[in-house]
Amino acid sequence: MATVWARFLLWLLLLLLLHSEIPVYLMAACPRQTRWPVPYRRFDYRPKTDPYCQARYTFCPAGSPIPLMIDEDVIEVYRLQAPVWEFKYGDVLGHMKIMHDAVGFKSMLSGKNYTMEWYELFQLGNCTFPHLRPDVFAPFWCNQGAACFYEGIDDAHWKENGTLVLVTTVSGAIFNQMAKWVNYDNETGIYYETWTVKESPDDNAKIWFDSYECSKFVQRTYQKLAELGAVFKKIQTNYTIVTLFSGEPTCFGNETSIFGPQGNNTLALAIRDFYTPFKPYQSVKSFFINLLKILDEVVLNHKFYLFYNLEYWFLPMKYPYMKVVYEEIPLPNSNTKPGM
Ligand SMILES: *[C@@H]1O[C@H](CO)[C@@H](O)[C@H](O)[C@H]1NC(C)=O
Ligand SMILES: *[C@@H]1O[C@H](CO)[C@@H](O)[C@H](O)[C@H]1NC(C)=O
Ligand SMILES: *[C@@H]1O[C@H](CO)[C@@H](O)[C@H](O)[C@H]1NC(C)=O
Ligand SMILES: *[C@@H]1O[C@H](CO)[C@@H](O)[C@H](O)[C@H]1NC(C)=O
Ligand SMILES: *[C@@H]1O[C@H](CO)[C@@H](O)[C@H](O)[C@H]1NC(C)=O
Ligand SMILES: *[C@@H]1O[C@H](CO)[C@@H](O)[C@H](O)[C@H]1NC(C)=O
Ligand SMILES: *[C@@H]1O[C@H](CO)[C@@H](O)[C@H](O)[C@H]1NC(C)=O
Repeated sequence: MATVWARFLLWLLLLLLLHSEIPVYLMAACPRQTRWPVPYRRFDYRPKTDPYCQARYTFCPAGSPIPLMIDEDVIEVYRLQAPVWEFKYGDVLGHMKIMHDAVGFKSMLSGKNYTMEWYELFQLGNCTFPHLRPDVFAPFWCNQGAACFYEGIDDAHWKENGTLVLVTTVSGAIFNQMAKWVNYDNETGIYYETWTVKESPDDNAKIWFDSYECSKFVQRTYQKLAELGAVFKKIQTNYTIVTLFSGEPTCFGNETSIFGPQGNNTLALAIRDFYTPFKPYQSVKSFFINLLKILDEVVLNHKFYLFYNLEYWFLPMKYPYMKVVYEEIPLPNSNTKPGM
């Protein structure tokens, strides 16, 4: 009986879709109901990267699996933060606080210490802007990011112009549970998202999209440790946030629905045009210089085509368009939220 009903409903739905004015592909490729901020999409597994994407610097060259600690061990947890290296020379950009975040661990039993961070497989430019290939109609993205764990903490690197500070101490058992979560997080959270998108600079403004980058991984790790019982020290923790300001975004669809055979060619060309001036090849420094140029473009036209969750979104841009801030996001309270 239930299957008969199911078939009937399916048939009814198909009939409705066939007769509706709305193209089917548009409905399918976008979220059915929009929740703000748009939830970051998790995947079942990490796909192999395309051979077109070639890293200038090898991702995680000294990486190792996360070791199993003895349950009774005592593990110190450090907040690590340092300026992105190209900003240490005193030019204009050097005064912007563009920081990279990581977490450090030190085992009291073995005396060994470790660094854990999350970053782009093909650098920031590639995660923010696509390649426009003459042979491929859709913009081509090399935008994966992943966690990297390795033995050692380079004290001088973090301390000298940044931060190396103890934030909590946990048991080996808690560390091991965190390690399981890191593996889950690393397998399912795959794509780097540079931009935070908000309605306005006000504190209680609507957030349309949350970024997904190094500092968010560090914050998720702290959150996970708090859920597992870690108690954090009371210290101020600021992070670099790159924010765009826009009115309510609209979803246009994904690569297939826009650039595929059934796509809207006008829209496809508009998106290609938008991305034409931006070069994904650049170094981090020229990336931020280019951001200022991008700003010109965005201010003049009041529009931005955002790629988020593998979907294209239209942002009706608003003053002040874009901001890079170094703002506080407090350490979590312990046992705040259960679950993964
Ligand atoms: C776009 O969305 C459709 C419908 O959900 C799906 O079949 C297709 O695989 C998606 N394309 C990409 C590139 O994700
Ligand atoms: C960005 O991707 C392109 C295409 O694969 C690659 O040639 C370039 O080296 C990448 N940039 C960096 C900094 O890795
Ligand atoms: C995360 O995934 C990447 C890509 O598969 C892998 O290279 C890296 O070792 C993983 N990190 C951890 C901490 O397991
Ligand atoms: C990490 O270990 C290295 C090598 O033993 C040592 O030089 C460094 O001071 C340690 N750092 C921390 C924060 O424990
Ligand atoms: C810290 O900053 C100074 C001056 O800006 C620079 O000379 C030095 O190399 C930096 N140190 C590290 C470890 O990056
Ligand atoms: C195609 O996209 C353009 C630009 O977004 C839009 O103005 C137009 O209405 C779209 N056409 C169809 C048939 O959806
Ligand atoms: C850290 O953030 C707080 C609040 O967001 C801000 O008042 C403070 O100036 C920031 N600290 C630095 C060093 O920028």
